Amino acid sequence: MNTKKRLAVIVIITFLCLLVKVEAQKVKDIVVKVNQPIATVEPTMWGIFFEDINLGADGGIYAELVKNRSFEFVKPLMGWAVQQNKLNEGSVLVLNRQQGNTANPRFLRITKNEANDTLNIANEGFRGMGIKKGLRYDFSILCRQLTPGLTLNIELLNANDKIIGSTRLSPAASGDEWKKEAISLNSTDTAWKGKLNIKFGGSGIIDLDMISLFPSDTWKNRPGGMRADMIKLLADMKPGFIRFPGGCIVEGYDLSQRYRWKNTIGTLEERQLIINRWNFEFAHRPTADYFQTFGLGFFEYFQLAEDIGAEPLPILNAGMACQFNTAEVVPLNELDPYVQDALDLIEFANGDVDTKWGTVRALLGHPKPFNLKMMGVGNENWGPQYIERLEVFTKAIKDKYPNFKLVYSSGTDPNGERFDYLNNELRKMNADIIDEHYYRRPEWFLANASRYDNYPHYPRNASKVFGGEYAAQSDKTVSVDNKNNMATAIAEAAFMTGLERNADVVNMASYAPLFAHVEGWQWTPDLIWVNNLQSFGTPNYYVQKLYSTNKGTNVVPALLNGKALTGQDSLYASAVIDKKTNEVIIKVVNASGKEKINNITLEGVKKQSSQGLVTTLQYNNLSGVNSFDQPKNVVPEEASVTIKGNKINFISLPYSFSVIRLKM
Ligand code: AHR
Repeated sequence: MNTKKRLAVIVIITFLCLLVKVEAQKVKDIVVKVNQPIATVEPTMWGIFFEDINLGADGGIYAELVKNRSFEFVKPLMGWAVQQNKLNEGSVLVLNRQQGNTANPRFLRITKNEANDTLNIANEGFRGMGIKKGLRYDFSILCRQLTPGLTLNIELLNANDKIIGSTRLSPAASGDEWKKEAISLNSTDTAWKGKLNIKFGGSGIIDLDMISLFPSDTWKNRPGGMRADMIKLLADMKPGFIRFPGGCIVEGYDLSQRYRWKNTIGTLEERQLIINRWNFEFAHRPTADYFQTFGLGFFEYFQLAEDIGAEPLPILNAGMACQFNTAEVVPLNELDPYVQDALDLIEFANGDVDTKWGTVRALLGHPKPFNLKMMGVGNENWGPQYIERLEVFTKAIKDKYPNFKLVYSSGTDPNGERFDYLNNELRKMNADIIDEHYYRRPEWFLANASRYDNYPHYPRNASKVFGGEYAAQSDKTVSVDNKNNMATAIAEAAFMTGLERNADVVNMASYAPLFAHVEGWQWTPDLIWVNNLQSFGTPNYYVQKLYSTNKGTNVVPALLNGKALTGQDSLYASAVIDKKTNEVIIKVVNASGKEKINNITLEGVKKQSSQGLVTTLQYNNLSGVNSFDQPKNVVPEEASVTIKGNKINFISLPYSFSVIRLKM
């Protein structure tokens, strides 16, 4: 090579090196402007969405172990097995009080003729009963003895019908009056798929209803309460709000099956059961034994919100049934009872104890108001008929409670004609909060990390956004193949940097759905999976938890070359400060399979040499999941990080979400 050529090669190589260096420089310097807060993070920012789907309530957080305890399922003996040796030894009959008790008409009449014969009824539980060794179980019934003389031998059985706990109940009640009888028994062994067996001894006639069995280790040890392991997972998230009771549950398949909060409070036997719409929604996941007993009702939801320090966010029916199903609407001139339900709910939650509904709350054991600040009207409704109904609700509620916040739905999708129409109309109405839903593939979430940076579409000082339901779908919406894997968790974490950065526009967000029973689900992916005795958080759960436990109070800019990090070189970032703890919290997502080395420069803090904490959720490939066998396969790990001067040399691992927390 002659000298000229050599020189040319050297120049080119130097140029290329410089280019690479400049490029590398670009991805390396993330500047966090700690002293320039740009938005307030609402305390409600990261919350949870609860719906009775996938055996979320009955067979889920509601710890009742008996399925069809009041014989009101369409098939009155579903879940029950009757065992009788001889035809003439007695009978087990389903009777119906009809108009005598419209909320709970059916009951069981047991007639037993001979003392030495055997007659049993056994309940299989939701997918079997999870029974724990050494635990106390509380059994109760409503009964009346027409001919006294029967005793109830209560037995806990394992899957092989071995008795693992027993006791005997001799009901005192006789005559026409129904009375509650209760007794407890201890389990001598663990059973994953246990049963409750009632063996009748003696002879006589007895009527039975509301046959119930609860574990004693419920959340806060409340009798008849919630499954503690599942609620603990929620409490650990420290959610800012809890949205309930859904979802499509609110709308109902038709209006007769809509959620009516007034039917869910008071004594259990008065809470009229309805079929759960997820019972038959998906032909590919039928769940014939799925009903809503409302053992878990609005009072319990408010109590749960209070327990876990979350703002309650009830969603009420807007006078419209699910538009994917019947699309039934109530005529505008018949909307009053729906609006009244909303007004009464506010009084139930907040009214003085001398108001009608405040009295009801006090009688249920909570004289103190629940301090309800917001309510949703409608879920995934669309079209002008929704707007017409909202106008009626809004006027009635705001006239009476001008500061009360209303959440309106923007439909089923985050874009498209329906969304654009509603977003426009709702903003014209000066909506307080607009609920957006995104069930999309991971790529959508990655590409939409800048969705709310779009100022014209989302004016800063106007209606706020509630990302009310979202989850990345590894396959596609309602596919049974969707997985809660690392690909979806990383995509959601990246998207959430955009929610956090735009906390002045987005005031609330929640993943959906929340729970799924491994043998009783209709919809996947879901944040938390359970079986009869265990529960585990998915990688997506840990993403949610890392955000909500690192919420901060104010957003500060996290910039690369003066721009928000929204996917440059597969990196996403956002930052907040916490004025209460005097910390800066930086979230960095590396959506690529390559390690990235970044300098994070903190602008506006005193130069210092100190240690901070970095919590990282990471997996080497995108298919990583948690499971019952490996519930901790993908969980956050903590390490320390050093700040020197005002710089952190930070390595973000392949496919990782890191939260860096430093004292300022
Ligand atoms: O989260 C499952 C369902 O998805 C909700 O019930 C509904 O609002 C949405 O379509």
